Amino acid sequence: MPKPVAPWRIVPLAKAHDRDSFACGSEPLDRYLQRQARQDAEKRVAAPFVVVEPPSSRVLGYYTLSASLIAVDALPPELAKKLPRYPQLPVTLLGRLAVDQGHRGKGLGEFLLMDALHRSLVAAAEIAAMAVIVDAKDEKAVAFYRRYGFIPLQRQPARLFLSMSTLAGLFS
Ligand SMILES: CC(C)(COP(=O)(O)OP(=O)(O)OC[C@H]1O[C@@H](n2cnc3c(N)ncnc32)[C@H](O)[C@@H]1OP(=O)(O)O)[C@@H](O)C(=O)NCCC(=O)NCCS
Repeated sequence: MPKPVAPWRIVPLAKAHDRDSFACGSEPLDRYLQRQARQDAEKRVAAPFVVVEPPSSRVLGYYTLSASLIAVDALPPELAKKLPRYPQLPVTLLGRLAVDQGHRGKGLGEFLLMDALHRSLVAAAEIAAMAVIVDAKDEKAVAFYRRYGFIPLQRQPARLFLSMSTLAGLFS
């Protein structure tokens, strides 16, 4: 069923965004947005993006992206054998993704995820990354990502990946 189109906008986190009341049910994810995300952006260790409903500056959800590496043997063997034999491979890390509890179930999580994946795909055309990986904080988060085709890495079930070639097909 098509979801109602809300006037959501996803933009880089800025000082003016109101994030004090953000509560996603995970204290570390709330604290990160409120106290750490801006610093990470300034130091360029993560790129935080927030979703707002203009003209309000209140943050309804957010995600972060960073460049990362994974060991080739973390990939399923059938995929690893098709790749060049480098010990490590470049990936984009979707480090965090969260939606405010008062705004759950409206499609915001999916909207944020699709934006993060599309942004990762576009960036990978110029700075290669062969997959997007995510760190799922618990079983519920694993279930959320698996709905979209993410596959757990070998020996690291809380870390999942989606290959960039799958993503390219998805957005073609
Ligand atoms: C996981 C989370 C981002 C989902 O946000 P949301 O805005 O409620 O999700 P959406 O409304 O976009 O749901 C999209 C689809 O995923 C499903 N879904 C949502 N949470 C799910 C979960 N935990 N497991 C499986 N499916 C889930 C929804 O039912 C919906 O499916 P439908 O379109 O068939 O109805 C949100 O619950 C959250 O912020 N949780 C706390 C932080 C967290 O766990 N982050 C994950 C990474 S650490």
